[in-house]
Amino acid sequence: MARSCCAWGVLLSLCSLLAAQPRERQGYLIAAPSVFRSGVEEAISVTIFNAVKETTVQIQLVVKGETVSRGHGTVLDKGTIKLKVPPGLRGQAHLKVWGNRHLAGDGYIFHNYTTVTIDSKGSSVFIQTDKPVYKPKQKVLINLYMVTSDLRPVNDRIEAYVVVSTCLPVTQRVP
Ligand SMILES: *[C@@H]1O[C@H](CO)[C@@H](O)[C@H](O)[C@H]1NC(C)=O
Repeated sequence: MARSCCAWGVLLSLCSLLAAQPRERQGYLIAAPSVFRSGVEEAISVTIFNAVKETTVQIQLVVKGETVSRGHGTVLDKGTIKLKVPPGLRGQAHLKVWGNRHLAGDGYIFHNYTTVTIDSKGSSVFIQTDKPVYKPKQKVLINLYMVTSDLRPVNDRIEAYVVVSTCLPVTQRVP
């Protein structure tokens, strides 16, 4: 009998401890792609749990200590912030995120960063020739163009090689 009395006592004090904690704790979740494509606008999703007020969220993409892209937005509980990745970049970068960075509002205050990879493979190159088969001394006309993943033209330098069937380069030109 005395034993079960004690057990109840412990349980009751545990319950009052839990009740004393704030019921709704604030927190955040940032979801971003691990690979960013250069020349493409990427979307970063921001969730703030148990938000009380709107939070100004700032995002920066930093390559070798230099900020190459910025984005910001106001988020109450859920939002998406767009970040335009400059063309011609590749390799590692830091994605930095601040909530209420300048402490000017009542929003949730946080800061964090992660490492992302910038991939230049966001674009496709299309090559057309005026004939399927050529005879010696015939002129070859080649049309070559590059587009982003959303099919917009890319104005960038590319290296092009022409090879014969033995796979030896016959000409090389960098337009
Ligand atoms: C930053 O985010 C990681 C998870 O990606 C987390 O473990 C860490 O605690 C966060 N840092 C801060 C200062 O909130």
